[in-house]
Amino acid sequence: MNKMKLYIVSFGCQMNKLDTSLVEAEFTKSGFELTDNQTEADVILMNTCSVREHAEHRVLSRLGYAKHLKRSGRKVVVGVIGCMAQRLGNSLLEREEVDVVCGPGQIPELKKMVIEKLEGSKGGVINVSPQIRKSPSAKNSAMLDEFELENSPNLTEHKNKAFVRVMRGCNNFCSYCIVPFVRGPEVSRSPDKILNQIRRLAESGVKQVTLLGQTVNSYRHTENGNEYRLHNLLEKTAEIDGIDRISFVTNYPYMDYTTPLFKAVAEIDKVCPYLHLPAQSGSEKVLKAMNRKYTPQDYIRLIDEAREHVPEIAVAGDFIVGFPGESEEDFRETEKLVERIRYKNIFAFKYSPRPGTSTEKRLEDNVPDKIKRERNIKLLALQESISSEDNKKFEGRKMRVFVEGRSSKGHLNNADNEKSPQLIGRTAGDYIVVFNGQEELTGKFADIIIEKTSALTLFGKVSDGQE
Ligand code: 5AD
Ligand code: SF4
Repeated sequence: MNKMKLYIVSFGCQMNKLDTSLVEAEFTKSGFELTDNQTEADVILMNTCSVREHAEHRVLSRLGYAKHLKRSGRKVVVGVIGCMAQRLGNSLLEREEVDVVCGPGQIPELKKMVIEKLEGSKGGVINVSPQIRKSPSAKNSAMLDEFELENSPNLTEHKNKAFVRVMRGCNNFCSYCIVPFVRGPEVSRSPDKILNQIRRLAESGVKQVTLLGQTVNSYRHTENGNEYRLHNLLEKTAEIDGIDRISFVTNYPYMDYTTPLFKAVAEIDKVCPYLHLPAQSGSEKVLKAMNRKYTPQDYIRLIDEAREHVPEIAVAGDFIVGFPGESEEDFRETEKLVERIRYKNIFAFKYSPRPGTSTEKRLEDNVPDKIKRERNIKLLALQESISSEDNKKFEGRKMRVFVEGRSSKGHLNNADNEKSPQLIGRTAGDYIVVFNGQEELTGKFADIIIEKTSALTLFGKVSDGQE
């Protein structure tokens, strides 16, 4: 019998990418084959994101296509999983094309639900958390842990690199954010389970791990009377043979847990000098309205401290522009913060009201879209000029990269491509480096002499070891 074909598409953050790879592993283990062609799939799954309306619209338009497939006679089971499944629940099942709705906390049940539908059960099946802000039961957490362990290694598109979830959920309630309402309360996984999982990953050839949490620096778990925080996890992870690089995302600018973490980054060689620390705004007024618990000055102090410990730490940030009430002056404060911090890179988003969040309920979305767009473009352009300038410091330096494989874009020296194609690698600080080299370098470390830089990319050649 032909294998059943699964098409799965992922929207949103790294948590979702991780869930997608776990689902892929689980389905392939059970005899499914993955396809990237929707029209031949027996099962179409969409792992969805609710953080901005735009992400939800993209899913709805994809569902429109699935409806068209079904109407034109294709027998296919269509499932919505992830944050939109949790947020919209039954209303998704009202759409004629949707058969399965499964929330992020019920993902271990997904395969059973899909098989039920493939076997011809009538009507839609749904499984989401009825009370999302209630702490998950011990049984539910154990099921999620088991699912995670059993479907690891979840090698990402780049060989030898894996994500490991250390926490689920969020308790911060930033006033614009849907995450606490779709991913539930913060739960830190047991360090024992996390470390066992990383050991298994290392045995299967993984060299780089990224510890994932919505606010990973609030990780806190007590086991046998000992409290483990993120820096303890980093120390223990670094003891695992075979693991060469450890990073952690994403962080919240907490003011009470800084020194031990920055010290860990400074002192543990394997921990990458990279800090993703979203500021969201540079205006004290806007931060307050966002229910972020720090001022711009606090944030600057935090980054200054990080740089005292790790002078070349690469700092990445997130910003929301056009938050309700954001004036020109407030936006100017954000620009000033970007100028002051000199990030490695930033992500900038136009504010998008999310149903049920306190901003959406209390504040009018009163910055016109045109202004949001202008501010977004302006902020990214400012960062681009900073990155272009700052990246020049790498010219002439030798940098160690982890080689991820062929570069999809042709950047340089196309003539050499036949025998030594253009490869792409990443430094420990997450800088992208493009160079010509043997494809066998993929999955290994290489030393590259940087010759040229742009805002987003460093270009170089493989070091012959003489430098
Ligand atoms: N509108 C726009 N951006 C948002 N983010 C979170 N919620 C919203 C929203 N309602 C951004 C934040 C966060 C990133 C993952 O998404 O910058 O850090
Ligand atoms: Fe959302 Fe704030 Fe939690 Fe990040 S810290 S997931 S922005 S509520």
